[in-house]
Amino acid sequence: MLRVDGISVRYGRIPALRRVSLEVGEGELVTLIGANGAGKTTTLRAISGLLPLAEGSITFDGRSIANAPPRTILDLGIAHCPEGRRVFPQLSVRENLEMGAYRRRDRAGVAADMERMFQRFPRLLERLGQAAGTLSGGEQQMLAIARALMSRPRLVLFDEPSLGLAPNLVEQTFAIVSDIRREGTTVLMVEQNAYAALEMCDRAYLLEGGAVMEHGTGRAMLANDHIQRAYLGG
Ligand SMILES: Nc1ncnc2c1ncn2[C@@H]1O[C@H](COP(=O)(O)OP(=O)(O)OP(=O)(O)O)[C@@H](O)[C@H]1O
Ligand SMILES: [Mg+2]
Repeated sequence: MLRVDGISVRYGRIPALRRVSLEVGEGELVTLIGANGAGKTTTLRAISGLLPLAEGSITFDGRSIANAPPRTILDLGIAHCPEGRRVFPQLSVRENLEMGAYRRRDRAGVAADMERMFQRFPRLLERLGQAAGTLSGGEQQMLAIARALMSRPRLVLFDEPSLGLAPNLVEQTFAIVSDIRREGTTVLMVEQNAYAALEMCDRAYLLEGGAVMEHGTGRAMLANDHIQRAYLGG
């Protein structure tokens, strides 16, 4: 479904990604793990069209999306749930959800999806008219996830959805990501919690210094010596 082939990305003259290649198959849950500064966010931003590629190619269903405008990539079915629960703080919960669907023309479908989000996240319904900036951190994360889903994506990119959440909310967030995948949406998730990420995924990639150092099934990655020593405290 998604094929990233040998992409390099630079911030000015500083290289952030060096020939990164990865694949996400239809229906898969793939995770991207790595230390701070490894290039995880940069990879997702490159896929979403938010950063230009210095080299390499990205295809989605066989069609090139390298250096395409972000709205085109969204229209093709790739949604990005960014790092740090980025919601529009001045806008209400409802307006944030509507922003997620702003490219859609099927009003009835949008309304139905909104209802589904309220079933999944009842707290959002209770806070519908409230400015998003006044929600708690966990509520903002729920809103950021729901907003990404409102575009009815085929592939969702999650950037550290559990960051900064209390342990019970971390679990709940991972359960939601697993649900989303079970319902047929493909997921590429960045996660610093390597153990949780490897446990829940089909396959994973390890980024170090902007390059893919290891990849394999979650199970194989959990058993990998280097990963155990450097990322799993084993
Ligand atoms: N806007 C920017 N300008 C310059 N350098 C940047 C910029 N954004 C990221 N970098 C650098 O690119 C490298 C990769 O950053 P990136 O944000 O992709 O890492 P990450 O793996 O997501 O890290 P974290 O786990 O801390 O979120 C880092 O060395 C970072 O300092
Ligand atoms: Mg990051």
